Amino acid sequence: MQTMARALLFPTLFCLAAAAAATAAPPHSQCLDNPPDMTAGGGEAGVVVHDLAGYEAYVTGAVHSSRTVLLATDIFGFEAPLLRKIADKVGQAGYYVIVPDFFHGHPYTLELNLTEWLSMHHPVKAAEDAKQIFTALRKEGRSIIGVGGYCWGGKFAVEVAETNEVDAIVVNHPAWVTVDDIKEVKCPIEILGAQNDTEAPPKLVYQFVQALRQRTDKVDYFAKVFQGVNHGFACRYNASNPFENKRAEQALALMLDWFHKHLK
Ligand SMILES: *[C@@H]1O[C@H](CO)[C@@H](O)[C@H](O)[C@H]1NC(C)=O
Ligand SMILES: *[C@@H]1O[C@H](CO)[C@@H](O)[C@H](O)[C@H]1NC(C)=O
Ligand SMILES: *[C@@H]1O[C@H](CO)[C@@H](O)[C@H](O)[C@H]1NC(C)=O
Repeated sequence: MQTMARALLFPTLFCLAAAAAATAAPPHSQCLDNPPDMTAGGGEAGVVVHDLAGYEAYVTGAVHSSRTVLLATDIFGFEAPLLRKIADKVGQAGYYVIVPDFFHGHPYTLELNLTEWLSMHHPVKAAEDAKQIFTALRKEGRSIIGVGGYCWGGKFAVEVAETNEVDAIVVNHPAWVTVDDIKEVKCPIEILGAQNDTEAPPKLVYQFVQALRQRTDKVDYFAKVFQGVNHGFACRYNASNPFENKRAEQALALMLDWFHKHLK
């Protein structure tokens, strides 16, 4: 009798414990997947400057161009070689390119708690603080400004686009962007999503498009969901994998098309 009671009791306790663990564990964020290989090559064309309106920044491309592209990084920050490689390619297309260190030397690293890190490095706050960058750029005569954002930087780009600071944005596999954000964007916006992305799933990208389509105050927009790739595909791809390489190149080409069209 006693044995039986114990046998019945144990599974119940086990289930409760399992349920508690399931509630406590935060959902896995794809923002943490495929962290960049910091030892890879990339970013040889530019330089790191130490005071770009109060920010350290990777600077590359056409120094004398008035057309500027600010690349806003993912949570892993401005030292990621593949991101610098992208910056160099945007620079080669004729733009002055800056990649500010929005995290002031404290990018996310895998041993940190993302929620806590994010509370100290929030894209909304970063977008407010970045006003001084745009002011400084204008003072230098760089009057035409685009922002290309990746993941964290996607939210940053959308926040900045809600002001009148920039002329066009490209949002690659964004995180934390809402339909309400999209309704407030004041400049042309391109959205590049991934089929396997739980931060901005295809369904959400479709809702973004619906919101843009239904606006009475139209802004030019373009959206594409890339098949067969994950969140992060445009900047944290495996460079030795031909398929992933190709997808990232396609995303870069579309970003450049968008800037060529709108940064004039
Ligand atoms: C989709 O992403 C998850 C992790 O975020 C990964 O485990 C899964 O393998 C991915 N699926 C494909 C088809 O790549
Ligand atoms: C991360 O920090 C938040 C807020 O302090 C906390 O609620 C959460 O449990 C932490 N997550 C992990 C995995 O430790
Ligand atoms: C990158 O892609 C190559 C070629 O497909 C593969 O052999 C390698 O295992 C991949 N590396 C990672 C870290 O996934």
